[in-house]
Amino acid sequence: MNVIAKELNDTLRGSAAAELLSDMGREMFFPKGIVAQSGEAKQKAYTYNATVGMATHKGGPVFLPSIHKEFNGLDSDAIFPYAPTAGDPKLRQIWKEEMIRKNPKLKNVPLSLPVVTAGLTHGVSIIADLFLDCGDTIIIPDMFWGNYRLIFEVRREAEIASFKFFTKEGTLNIEGLADVIETASGNKIVLIVNFPNNPTGYSPTAAEAEALTELLVKYAEAGKKILVMTDDAYFGLFYKEETCKQSLFAYLADAHSNILAVKGDAATKEELVWGFRVGFLTFGGKGMSENQYEALVKKTMGAIRSSVSNCSRPAQTLLLHGMTSESYAAEKEAAYELLSARYVEVKKTLLKYADNTLLRPMPFNSGYFMAFTCKGSAELLRLYLLDTYGIGTISIQDTYLRIAYSSVDIENIENLYDTLYTAAQEAWN
Ligand SMILES: Cc1ncc(COP(=O)(O)O)c(C=O)c1O
Repeated sequence: MNVIAKELNDTLRGSAAAELLSDMGREMFFPKGIVAQSGEAKQKAYTYNATVGMATHKGGPVFLPSIHKEFNGLDSDAIFPYAPTAGDPKLRQIWKEEMIRKNPKLKNVPLSLPVVTAGLTHGVSIIADLFLDCGDTIIIPDMFWGNYRLIFEVRREAEIASFKFFTKEGTLNIEGLADVIETASGNKIVLIVNFPNNPTGYSPTAAEAEALTELLVKYAEAGKKILVMTDDAYFGLFYKEETCKQSLFAYLADAHSNILAVKGDAATKEELVWGFRVGFLTFGGKGMSENQYEALVKKTMGAIRSSVSNCSRPAQTLLLHGMTSESYAAEKEAAYELLSARYVEVKKTLLKYADNTLLRPMPFNSGYFMAFTCKGSAELLRLYLLDTYGIGTISIQDTYLRIAYSSVDIENIENLYDTLYTAAQEAWN
């Protein structure tokens, strides 16, 4: 094993993280190679800095003015050079401050600094690399983002163990989670939860978040080592009073020394910059020291260095400027209101179809989506909607139809839902 990897593992010894790491996670380190050496040179090389693979001129990057002019006067240094492997330090700091502001439970809880990833997909993939071995089980509620299959099953050869997302009463099926944990062999439990959920659009109530936390703490108390990743892609889009407005990460980051919580989030949807490819990973575990957080950050940096090397500099700069601008808060509120009004319109329209059994909406209170349980073939209906009405939807497991009402203007929502019910009647008659 590389000596730096060994040092990081020594630092982590005694924490749940140490026992949760995969083989790759244990071997992972951030080399004292080009990036580290050029970092050192940046501070100390006062004569010539001939370290990094960039072209420079008079201390700044060489760049093409035809590209620079598109950036509206931004300093070339903030656009063209590589970003640090873990991301722009100012952006990492601001993301953390915002996270604590939005999740007051995190106040005074020691956490790692968020590490910048190339979007949330990349973040999930890194956590899979660091914590899942071939043959390991990852627990996921049965309504999940399809890309998890590629990440966990295809890339990591892990096995997905699912449980029903909802009880018959339409509440979060916490007992179902307990049953899967009970049947899991070994001491290592890995779980990913995604709220607001894709595809159902559901987020737990505060009582459900508490109950979920209590359950995991119970197993941690019994000696299980538990990794919980929260995929907070749609964080903040909560439309109902009773919905829990904080990430489950905020409940788990300081819950028990046998629980390692990882918050995966991204500017992608939270800041409405889908194409920027900026995401974040933040670690929280009760009793973890600053050095242990730093060791996890270093392993994450190794995973970044060996996959995408570092993430987009201009995207990070634009995000930082936007998030610190005066109009930011009001603009975010306006975007929230736009989506929230669409949610209200969907709910209102569905009242007309309360007794219709062809398409039954699953519980939804947040995010971009809602999903129907279909009486007939969801795939047949999807194709029928596309061919007959020019309406695009997503069919899942031939049973569920997912509607991204986030991408339909409010004035078209009633017509969209009327057409969905008409089409279901026609397609399945
Ligand atoms: C649940 C969930 N996680 C992660 C992502 C990916 O986010 P990103 O575009 O930042 O990789 C998505 C996007 O569709 C998603 O729905």
